[in-house]
Amino acid sequence: MARVSKKTARGRAAPKPAKVGSGELVSLLDYLRYAVSRFVEAKLAFAHGTTDPVAEAAFLIGEALHLNPDQFEGFAHARVTAAEGKTILDLIHQRIITRKPAAYLVNKVYMRGLPFYVDERVIVPRSFIGELLDSHFGGEDGAGALIDDPTAVERVLDLCTGSGCLAILAAHHFPYAAIDAVDISKGAIEVATRNVDEYGLDERIRLHRGDLFAPLGDSKYDLIITNPPYVDAEGMAALPPECRAEPKLAFDGGADGLDVVRRILHDAPDHLTPDGGLICEIGRGRDLVDEAFPELPLLWLDTEESEGEVFWISAADLG
Ligand SMILES: C[S@@+](CC[C@H](N)C(=O)[O-])C[C@H]1O[C@@H](n2cnc3c(N)ncnc32)[C@H](O)[C@@H]1O
Repeated sequence: MARVSKKTARGRAAPKPAKVGSGELVSLLDYLRYAVSRFVEAKLAFAHGTTDPVAEAAFLIGEALHLNPDQFEGFAHARVTAAEGKTILDLIHQRIITRKPAAYLVNKVYMRGLPFYVDERVIVPRSFIGELLDSHFGGEDGAGALIDDPTAVERVLDLCTGSGCLAILAAHHFPYAAIDAVDISKGAIEVATRNVDEYGLDERIRLHRGDLFAPLGDSKYDLIITNPPYVDAEGMAALPPECRAEPKLAFDGGADGLDVVRRILHDAPDHLTPDGGLICEIGRGRDLVDEAFPELPLLWLDTEESEGEVFWISAADLG
């Protein structure tokens, strides 16, 4: 009987998986190249802490070898042991067959250089607000600061906190602030609790389970940060498999994506101090938001990888 060879989508024979100890793959760089080729071939999506196959592969290999992503280059030509090689190949395989974000496979993601625990109970952190805290909120050079003096910020609210990543980054930016963080998901609050504990911030960050502002009484904040669910129905139907591995609750913003954003804009004025402000990520819905709230002078903020996906509005302008 004729042997049937496995074919790729383009009709070429699929390469056999690399074998540990065969001498085919020796250094970290060899494993990196191999992973990148397999990831590209499998047409994976990259949007969960890395945005390209090289960074994704370097992250997974680094995690398998207990190396920080910054250390990869220094060890690029180092040999990988047989046991390490097996772990790396297994992670590459898992990434391709499960289509889960790499962060779920190793229960870790880096955001602004800080590690956070993640699992399927939370979306993998990647909010543009992380970068904006650095660039616009008393970070590196203070240029374009929306809050002049981070040390004067007394209370911060992180609405829709997920893993707690933005609340934790905010705690670093606003060293004297008490922070409340809210999520409606029990699993998210469990993950956030773990991250807050790991950073020793349990005395500064209070986690609340509930619907937006509901658990907060009439508390007022100098700064409200939020990365709410904002994907519209069309976007939900087109999510890549990687995103379908994440909680639906983290994405689903209703028919036009703005269900939660509208509620936040409606209720935020009651929870801001007079000099405070709101920073809110809304993804690609800028035109819709501008149309829905023509009276609001929203300031649209750009990051290295986004244009107009986050807005800022001061309490005074919110009315
Ligand atoms: C896009 S994720 C953001 C998570 C995190 N802040 C981040 O940037 O990685 C949105 C989060 O909002 C939560 N959420 C959805 N609806 C909510 C509501 N009505 N009240 C509070 N949290 C809600 C989800 O459980 C999810 O964790």
